[in-house]
Amino acid sequence: HTYLVVMAGGIGSRFWPFSRTHHPKQFHDVLGLGRSMLQLTVDRFAGICPPENVFVVTNRDYVELVQQHLPELAAHQILGEPIGRNTAPCIAYASYRIARLDPEAVMVVTPADHAVMHEENFRATIRTALAGARSHNVLITLGIQPSRPDTGYGYIQFIDDEVPAQHVRQLPGHADGAFPKQLRKVKTFTEKPNAELAQMFVSSGEFLWNSGLFVWRADAIVQAFHQYLSDIAEVFDEGREQLGTPAEEEFITRAYSLCRNISIDYGVMEKADNVYVLPADFGWSDLGTWDSLHRMGQHDADENVVDGNALLYDTRECVIKTPPERLVVVQGLEGYIVAEYDNVLLICKRTEEQRVKDFVADVKSKK
Ligand code: GDD
Ligand code: MG
Repeated sequence: HTYLVVMAGGIGSRFWPFSRTHHPKQFHDVLGLGRSMLQLTVDRFAGICPPENVFVVTNRDYVELVQQHLPELAAHQILGEPIGRNTAPCIAYASYRIARLDPEAVMVVTPADHAVMHEENFRATIRTALAGARSHNVLITLGIQPSRPDTGYGYIQFIDDEVPAQHVRQLPGHADGAFPKQLRKVKTFTEKPNAELAQMFVSSGEFLWNSGLFVWRADAIVQAFHQYLSDIAEVFDEGREQLGTPAEEEFITRAYSLCRNISIDYGVMEKADNVYVLPADFGWSDLGTWDSLHRMGQHDADENVVDGNALLYDTRECVIKTPPERLVVVQGLEGYIVAEYDNVLLICKRTEEQRVKDFVADVKSKK
């Protein structure tokens, strides 16, 4: 009863101009491996989840792209959203849909834009989390050792003791399930703290980053929606009979117009008292921004990461990503992003990359 839910509806605006509304980054081969981020995400779960239990949630505009990238998926495995309402409604849709299909479902929820270096290790970690989630009413997140005070992540503080089995919320009829000893009870969850807090969290050595990878039973997260996002639960409760029927699309259009825009992190993870973290180490990286590509990519002797046809002089610590047909000549640039895609060229200081989101907003408002 293992299901995979891939959240692939973001527009990746911090990766602009490479990530564009008509072709967001999850559909790009960002790492140059011959597979898109979305394909790599699904590949990673081979052997964990049968192909017929894979669901991708995305904007209706991208359903066709998902189909092209993952031709093995049947049409009903791609859940189309009429509008982006962030990850809480996306997860509500998938969980209600799956819970209706299979009351014993255990799900892994994954972003579609992460890189993982050690896949075997990754799968072993996911299996441990699944073993904990299967017979307990718990919300599990995978936690990553932080390496810098990044304000773009969730921060998790946990109790560093083995969890006594009798403290974990059991499910009626599942009293026999063991609880893996690697799981830790979460004390606090802080989504996207300010710079000062992030610095404190990292220096204290007590916090992990939220990877954004979640493992739980479908009925456990549905229950959490009732407790913490009851307005969204109400919307989906009302139409649950329509899920999996021809009336689904119309219901979802109405449902999304009633849902507010909120992430699962703010909406549930910060508030719930049955959150557990599995400390993980599998060479994880969120390819969320240009700087992450600089950290992840192959560096040349001058610490540049180059994907394109570029001739560099006295140039250091830059990210250059340009179309292969364009010859790029750069002299004397240090610590910059030079990125071109589909007739847009961005030249921006690496340290100012958080502003890329604002540039996109400005460009859109000028159109
Ligand atoms: N279907 C769908 N619909 N997917 C969405 C939507 C939506 O409206 N919004 C975002 N997503 C997808 C994105 O494509 C991405 O794969 C994933 O959900 C997470 O969204 P992000 O927008 O990338 O979240 P974030 O990076 O700001 O923060 C999350 O991830 C961090 C780790 O990378 C949080 O979970 C943080 O706590 C976490 O540290
Ligand atoms: Mg992200």
